[in-house]
Amino acid sequence: MKLLINQQVHDVDVPADTTLLNYLRGNGLTGTKEGCASGDCGACTVMVGTPDTDGIRYRTVNACIAPVGQFAGEHVVTVEGLAEADQLHPAQQAMVDCHGSQCGFCTPGFVMSLAALVENNSVGSDQREQVLQGISGNLCRCTGYRPIVDAGLRALQAPRTARLHDAAVFDMMGESSPAHDRGGVHLPISEDELQRTMQQYPDARLIGGGTDLMLEVTQLYRHLPELICLGRVAELNRIEETGETLVIGAGVPYTLLEDWFVDRSSPMFDLLQRLGSRQIRNSGTPGGNLANGSPIADMPPALIAWDARLELVSAAGASRVVSIDDFYLDYRKTLLAQDEYIARIHIPFGAMQDFHRFYKSSKRIEDDISSVMGAFRFKLDGGQISQARVAFGGMAATPVRLRELESLLEGAAPDDEQVLSQAIEQLDGLMTPLTDVRASAAYRAAMAGAMLTRALGEAAGTRLPTVMEVDPGA
Ligand SMILES: Cc1cc2nc3c(=O)[nH]c(=O)nc-3n(C[C@H](O)[C@H](O)[C@H](O)COP(=O)(O)OP(=O)(O)OC[C@H]3O[C@@H](n4cnc5c(N)ncnc54)[C@H](O)[C@@H]3O)c2cc1C
Ligand code: FES
Ligand code: FES
Repeated sequence: MKLLINQQVHDVDVPADTTLLNYLRGNGLTGTKEGCASGDCGACTVMVGTPDTDGIRYRTVNACIAPVGQFAGEHVVTVEGLAEADQLHPAQQAMVDCHGSQCGFCTPGFVMSLAALVENNSVGSDQREQVLQGISGNLCRCTGYRPIVDAGLRALQAPRTARLHDAAVFDMMGESSPAHDRGGVHLPISEDELQRTMQQYPDARLIGGGTDLMLEVTQLYRHLPELICLGRVAELNRIEETGETLVIGAGVPYTLLEDWFVDRSSPMFDLLQRLGSRQIRNSGTPGGNLANGSPIADMPPALIAWDARLELVSAAGASRVVSIDDFYLDYRKTLLAQDEYIARIHIPFGAMQDFHRFYKSSKRIEDDISSVMGAFRFKLDGGQISQARVAFGGMAATPVRLRELESLLEGAAPDDEQVLSQAIEQLDGLMTPLTDVRASAAYRAAMAGAMLTRALGEAAGTRLPTVMEVDPGA
């Protein structure tokens, strides 16, 4: 398997679960640091480029949780590949000029996140927001963020670097197809090929972005000898509008979903912007979010509220479509059979057009898993709720839909305070939140009530009085 690193060809033959970070550091590129090995700190951030009509398009990734084989045929740029002789990259120069570094451990990661903004010409109306999003997956524990944000704003004034956009560099790898299986990483490019590969390697693990899966390697020290990457399967990487349904390929990375939803659903766009960091969203996929079966994943409650259906396909090519309501069986147990993959998510446009709100409560705004995630959809007819959907994450062993509560709300006006009080009372009995490091059970219960109150208030066009005060210390 060949890939480019800083414009040099690497012919890689390592075990499938070798992370890009370990490969880089093992090959002398030690500018890329390991802080957490779990995607949380950004010290390992690198840029990965693919040819684009306009040169090379770069995305940032956490090298610590990405298998190197996933990048076959792509161009990895590390901090060593930015400067040219004595000429620093604009992101590096701006960090120097704005005093954006102290101990320096986080600095290569920040520089790479800022460099990606420069190289993707990320100029928009709100440059500060661009910078904040760009560095949302980078932590600094000594400099403080103001000088780094200043550096980002300064770097954004610079033009992109011509040398990093010469797509001819890909010719250096020759004609060899990257999609072969040396080292146990399989890169099928079509669903047919995916199914054949799954039949041939029934024990292989599927990998979308690897942002959940690779923690098994870095945190649990498991060995994953065979990986089947979904990132190049064309049919799983499309967003299609078919009649009354939006069909999202399970392997579409969140960053592309953000682009699709930005003008179509601000609650979904806002939720996506709160999901992980820019690095996580460049790699992570909704298919991985659902298949992972976590009760605190962000997509399931929203997709339950939208009455989404999941298309599951087996290695033999047999397909079935199931309601997302039926998908979660128990803690981390789903309907997905061992030989099946999630191919597509079907969302009725009608549901997306109803009033909907997705609220996420987490300890940090950026790059943090939900303590509670609430998703609400109300079809409003003549001032009344004719259809309600209420779903929560973080409140039980699986994402939950509250049918009894929905029945209570249906037929009521969203500003009916008596119904709201009954609903809040019901909430307590319907879910079994845990106390853990993220939040106490009492906090979670109070937050769920506050979210419901807010959703109904916004549906009514008013803010209803908060029925329950939320004590952050509870
Ligand atoms: C720092 C950090 C922050 C995060 N923040 C959030 C957050 O805010 N909210 C949130 O919800 N999650 C968060 N996550 C978790 C993770 O990013 C998401 O769950 C993401 O959607 C996983 O997608 P993936 O493609 O990377 O999955 P992978 O890691 O590739 O796969 C996860 C599991 O699903 C399986 N799988 C993947 N795709 C398919 C498919 N199409 N069909 C069948 N099986 C499949 C894999 O075999 C694996 O078992 C975070 C993770 C990290 C490391
Ligand atoms: S080492 Fe912390 S995100 Fe990779
Ligand atoms: S400069 Fe020390 S952690 Fe950022």
